[in-house]
Amino acid sequence: MREKDSGAKAMASSTTSSSNLDNFFTSSAARLDGWRELNAKAQTWAAGTRGGNPRAGRAEVEAALAAVRPLEDFFAYPGARLLKALADRVADGDAVGVGRLVRRISGALLSGSYRYDSGQWESSDDEGDTFPERLAETLSGGESRRPYFETLFVTPAPTASFAKLANEIRRLRRVEDAMVYEPVLVGNVEDAILATLLNGKIQAVVIFDGIPLPSQHDVPLLRDLLSTYVQLDMTNFAPRDVGVTLAQLVKRVRPELDIYLMTDRQVEKLAGDPAASMIRRVFYEVEELMEVHLNVLEGIADRYSTPHFDNLKKYAARPIATFHALPIARGKSIMKSNWIHDMGEFYGLNLFLAETSATTGGLDSMLEPTGTIKVAQEKFARAVGADHVFFVTNGTSTSNKMVYQAVTKPGDIVIADRNCHKSHHYGMVLSGAQPLYVEAFPMTEYSMYGAVPLRTVKQALLNLKAEGRLDRVKMVTLTNCTFDGHVYNTRRVMEECLAIKPDLLFLWDEAWFGFARWSPFLRPRTGIGAATALEEWRATPAALDAWKKQAAELGEDLDPKDPRVLDRRLVPDPRKMRIRVYETDSVHKSMSCLRQGSIVAVKDEDYDHHISAFREAVFIHASTSPNAQIIASLDVARRQMELEGYELVMKAIEIALAIRRAVSEHPIVSKYFRVLGADGMVPAEFRPSGFQDFLATGSNWLTALKAVKDDEFFLDPTRMTLVCGSAGFDGTSFKGLLASKYNIQLNKTSRNSVLLQSNINNTRSDVALLIKVLLEISQSIEAGLAEGGDAARTAFAAKVKSLMTDVPDLPNFSRFHDGYREDPNSITLEGDMRSAFFAAYEEDDCEYLPLMSPKIDERLANGPEMVSANFVIPYPPGFPIMVPGQVIAADTIGFMRKLDVKEIHGYNATRGLKLIKLSAIGPQPSRPQAQRAPASASAPAKRKTTVK
Ligand SMILES: Cc1ncc(COP(=O)(O)O)c(C=O)c1O
Repeated sequence: MREKDSGAKAMASSTTSSSNLDNFFTSSAARLDGWRELNAKAQTWAAGTRGGNPRAGRAEVEAALAAVRPLEDFFAYPGARLLKALADRVADGDAVGVGRLVRRISGALLSGSYRYDSGQWESSDDEGDTFPERLAETLSGGESRRPYFETLFVTPAPTASFAKLANEIRRLRRVEDAMVYEPVLVGNVEDAILATLLNGKIQAVVIFDGIPLPSQHDVPLLRDLLSTYVQLDMTNFAPRDVGVTLAQLVKRVRPELDIYLMTDRQVEKLAGDPAASMIRRVFYEVEELMEVHLNVLEGIADRYSTPHFDNLKKYAARPIATFHALPIARGKSIMKSNWIHDMGEFYGLNLFLAETSATTGGLDSMLEPTGTIKVAQEKFARAVGADHVFFVTNGTSTSNKMVYQAVTKPGDIVIADRNCHKSHHYGMVLSGAQPLYVEAFPMTEYSMYGAVPLRTVKQALLNLKAEGRLDRVKMVTLTNCTFDGHVYNTRRVMEECLAIKPDLLFLWDEAWFGFARWSPFLRPRTGIGAATALEEWRATPAALDAWKKQAAELGEDLDPKDPRVLDRRLVPDPRKMRIRVYETDSVHKSMSCLRQGSIVAVKDEDYDHHISAFREAVFIHASTSPNAQIIASLDVARRQMELEGYELVMKAIEIALAIRRAVSEHPIVSKYFRVLGADGMVPAEFRPSGFQDFLATGSNWLTALKAVKDDEFFLDPTRMTLVCGSAGFDGTSFKGLLASKYNIQLNKTSRNSVLLQSNINNTRSDVALLIKVLLEISQSIEAGLAEGGDAARTAFAAKVKSLMTDVPDLPNFSRFHDGYREDPNSITLEGDMRSAFFAAYEEDDCEYLPLMSPKIDERLANGPEMVSANFVIPYPPGFPIMVPGQVIAADTIGFMRKLDVKEIHGYNATRGLKLIKLSAIGPQPSRPQAQRAPASASAPAKRKTTVK
């Protein structure tokens, strides 16, 4: 208990004094650092003892042990027994023994060897120890390593009996068990939540009814969270009923965990209570613990099983002869070849043994799955909280097109971010849906766009309503998060749009954001996460009350001309709104999945309208020869994320914060480089919570959580815009330099920045490498400036100015040519892009004008209008500055002329811009010039963003 008290103090200081997000966001690194520190101190003490100075270093060891101690209550290893052995040795002044034990523990923590090496649990020189011998036998589990996890037991039993209870639980292990777990015991609600947050190894939670609320630890942030967000009433707390409440809280943090409730209440009633639906099984407390044990193992086995991958492995092991059109299958044509056997050696035989075109024998068909692929898809749907998931083996490019194909038809209007990935534009060309482009806020100084303000989307819907075309709007498409990390307030966007049109569909392109599901901080901002929250909200009486209040103020049918409708946060009618969400994820971009593995996740309560269309969409877009290995890796990626996604994503966030911190704190690197924080990426008007940056003074995970809840845009911490223009590099050359000289690969560039991204694959060594490289580059800049004197400094300053200040304005979407608009007089700018796209197939109907030709200037000044024949997409920035049928405006030409990028898709530099001849556009509805829609009626006024 004494130990616990000192631990509690350390915890308090770590939670209160830290000015950064140094708690849950950096806890795993901090924990290992703490053990490393303790190890260093212990070795110094041991060395001093050997050198005849037994006292030197003891106090430091005591302090370092006290610092690591509090976190350890939430982890199975090293556990109370080894920690007690350690404390005893410190008390006995056994410096050498302490040194030995600490070295072993910190090594085991770092390598993770405690998960399979039972020796790590022993304190070798403690004779007559009561630690059950069965642990040693069962942890390593014979020949093959058994998966290890931890199970949290939340029990009202006195702390003094924890060790006995833990041993009882360990004794339930059987040699037949396919996995092995260690118990972690806590005695109250707060500690249970802390353990769920801190310990990613926990996979199952067993809650005994009747537990108290408060922790002995001083955890003010957590308490704030519980009282503000969860409204857990500390004063009016009934331990009898707390089991279900705790289960709900745990599910909110980590929905993948299996939860069991032990109660002496009426189990039958609880089991049928919808409020307790997140509990996997309810047990009557006096029942055998063995039942709980078997259920815990079964729950994990269910997440562990990967039906398609498992079958593929079985298939590969069978002696199969193929008389099929897939020579690579079985690998014989490779392994026996004189000329290509190196491919076999490189990849290994299994790759070829598992290459198959079979859809029988357990392998199922991706086009019409009825077996293992179907089950694998269902498991993925469960994992992401969707009703259905479709596997796609050609990237999210195809997933997006499938959604357009399935849910839109010619003439439907789709409100789409003009910046969205090209698959959306092509999806609309295919389906015939008409895009009504909305503009993201520009970040002119970095030559990139942010995300689309909700006000802009609302305005587009209200304009359509005012013009009587709201019924034509089918869907809103937004990219979440954007390439550069802008994350929408998905829930608010859907709420307010549904208040205007209750049956709208949403396509959230989460190509980059699939991993967010496994972070409690980011999940509420995913499309599916928000849909789940909306579903819960809709069922509460508060929902209808809020809508009625709004109806009393604004009327039941919103007047699109009433400015309050635009200004106010709108509430949808919970009785009318439909929850219709499609989310596409490039699983390969953020999880352990082979390239091109992607999913469409569906949470659409009117999905039955689209079942057959979806099947058609699969037939249209999916290959009839899908790659079994990609499908298997989708299955395995899901397994990994359901079992360790939480821990891995937390680490990816930790690494991103470490990079941000290292760049900003380094005295030389920070002179030339900086990583933009939320305040650099999101204008203040979209950050009502006042959140500035992850590293700003006063920031902690609670302020981040508030920003997640309230701000219009939140910055994904794992996406880091590193400004390199201030070091005199444009994005493309900096990317090239890092790749060619330092073997560092980056994702995207802008005129003066590059995008760094941390993911579940990164380690702290990667951070060290990056910082080392940035330092080397900074030092060489410094050396160059020192050597070159004034001339070099002037040239450097000019380069920086040109990159950072002389930036071209970003052009907004102008409009579709009148010939591609049903009503050229309408204020909204949707258009028939599909007809324009196909018009360009007739070469005789097209003409070309070189970009620099004076003819372009003449036509801009005096007409006739120039109409783009195709998509023109410069990389970077990677959005279409022209789409088929778009009238080309002067600012687009100006932007293109200033662009210093080499890669412009859709533009042939030799021939020039491809235009559709006006004579080919057909009869155009005439209208007086004065009635023309402004160039961008649904776009915000263009401005330079000030993002501070
Ligand atoms: C926002 C967005 N959506 C979709 C895609 C296409 O994804 P994939 O590469 O999986 O086809 C990308 C690709 O970069 C993207 O950035």
